[in-house]
Amino acid sequence: MIELLNAGLTLELTVINTYFLNARMLDNWGLPRLGQVFYDLSIAEMKDADEFIQRILMFDGHPNVQKLGAIQVGEDPEEVLRLAYDGEQEAIALFNAGAEECHALGDHATALYFETGARDEERHADWLEGQIDAIARVGAQNYLAQHLDPSSGPA
Ligand SMILES: [Fe+2]
Ligand SMILES: [Fe+2]
Repeated sequence: MIELLNAGLTLELTVINTYFLNARMLDNWGLPRLGQVFYDLSIAEMKDADEFIQRILMFDGHPNVQKLGAIQVGEDPEEVLRLAYDGEQEAIALFNAGAEECHALGDHATALYFETGARDEERHADWLEGQIDAIARVGAQNYLAQHLDPSSGPA
């Protein structure tokens, strides 16, 4: 059980870092509105990681915060969105598998953690998919123009 929860924790810690870096890269590319979305996502993933840490501690396990997966940031906004979408899909698959294993072990309460996690990541994936669709429909230039915010100055 602790192993399963630590696998979930590793994934969350990886996306926290990925999205935080993405947020600042998007800011740097002059797309602060999209940057803010990724900043907020990073905080949301941090709350997910917190849930895993608390659950592991409840089982008297050691939350492994040393381990991180590969950070894939992307070289342009489109790639950032696509990689984030892939990452969310990976999380959904891992959490669904985790929930299944928990149910098989008779631990339905922990299964609920994974199920709630899967539902959250589905929401993220759905949003990202919508952005990728929008880019396909209106073109990257038009899409990205929506994410400029000249009113947000450096102060
Ligand atoms: Fe998450
Ligand atoms: Fe997510």
